[in-house]
Amino acid sequence: MTLLRLVVLFGVAVVMALDNGLARTPPMGWSSWNTFRCDINEALILETAEKMISEGMRDAGYVYVNIDDCWSLHQRNASGYLVEDPAKFPHGIRYLADYLHKRGMKLGLYNAAGAWTCQGYPGSYHYEKQDAELFASYDVDFWKQDWCAVELGQDPRVSYPVLRDAVNATGHPMVLSICEYGLKEVWTWGPTTGNMWRTTNDISDSWDRWTYILEAQAAITGFSGPGGWNDMDMLVVGMGGQPDGHYQAHFSLWALLNSPLIAGNDVRKMTAATREILLNGEVIAVNQDPLGIQGTRIWQSFLKEQEVWARPLTGGMYAAVLLNRDEAKPRDVTLKLADLPPVPGTPAGQVTAAMVRDLWAHADLGTFQGQYTAKVPARSAVMITLRPACTRMCVRAPCECDS
Ligand code: GLA
Repeated sequence: MTLLRLVVLFGVAVVMALDNGLARTPPMGWSSWNTFRCDINEALILETAEKMISEGMRDAGYVYVNIDDCWSLHQRNASGYLVEDPAKFPHGIRYLADYLHKRGMKLGLYNAAGAWTCQGYPGSYHYEKQDAELFASYDVDFWKQDWCAVELGQDPRVSYPVLRDAVNATGHPMVLSICEYGLKEVWTWGPTTGNMWRTTNDISDSWDRWTYILEAQAAITGFSGPGGWNDMDMLVVGMGGQPDGHYQAHFSLWALLNSPLIAGNDVRKMTAATREILLNGEVIAVNQDPLGIQGTRIWQSFLKEQEVWARPLTGGMYAAVLLNRDEAKPRDVTLKLADLPPVPGTPAGQVTAAMVRDLWAHADLGTFQGQYTAKVPARSAVMITLRPACTRMCVRAPCECDS
């Protein structure tokens, strides 16, 4: 998808484009914010990167190491440039970029579109050009631009394109991560402006919070795709506030819905269960599927406690998550094969039988006619892929048709 926007200016059509060729699949990495807040420094970044390598995270696709808020001094220098805090980053930010690049990883850095960042460090407002030049000189690969301390009336539909154009002007490609919490229906203009855009306020390490973010996706799943993604916010997997079953459900849904997978835990102290969740290659493969079609909710129970989300994958396959929100009881959740969402432009309701694979049990479950039902524990999810065994057109032989 080429991301172009035509604007007519004095009768002349001007092409405004993001089209930076980046983030063709959802970016994966780690960010300092969820666990470390402002308590960040060079040692933390280096130790985290090394641990991501030794734990296999880098090779599983988590290549961005993102420094969030609080990395600069509180004042710009006399020429208007941000200055990295020498107490936190004694060798500077460029040193970290060089280090990460040698290790096959990438560096992300943060700022905000207003006068100040959310933690009170200097923001980019009126300094977009200097900041883009500085980030380019640091060899930054990923720029998260927040939305704090904005002027009354400041419009994200104006501010983020200013930043995009400043970045483009440097000739230094950077993933542009828009973080304005879903204001002004960012998903409608995000694709021409950035590579990902937050859709809600911040996540926190609780079931209620991440299911609220999930709920917000239901109406906007059509806007996400290669080069530009609905960002459901950084992961809270392994932060310690929820049982592993909740984290497994959270990770399953972030993967199915094509959210960038940016871990937020202390990867230096991962439990075996956290490792198994973040490093489940079958779930990651769904997230990284090259078709990049976001999962949609295809069924919800009357009381809205059970639901099924699904999406098509390349190769005629499908993936689905069967979610049970019930706090106390396991529940049967049924996916009807006729409800599987097809690749856009192809007929719906074609699959009549499918071979099902459980991505958390890593097990083939056999062929199911018409529907598949799983008993899903309280506040948990089952994630599966489906390979059609028979369709109404009966194109895939041998067919085990139900009619
Ligand atoms: C906002 C963002 C968070 C984080 C903090 C940093 O709240 O949404 O993701 O970057 O700012 O201050």
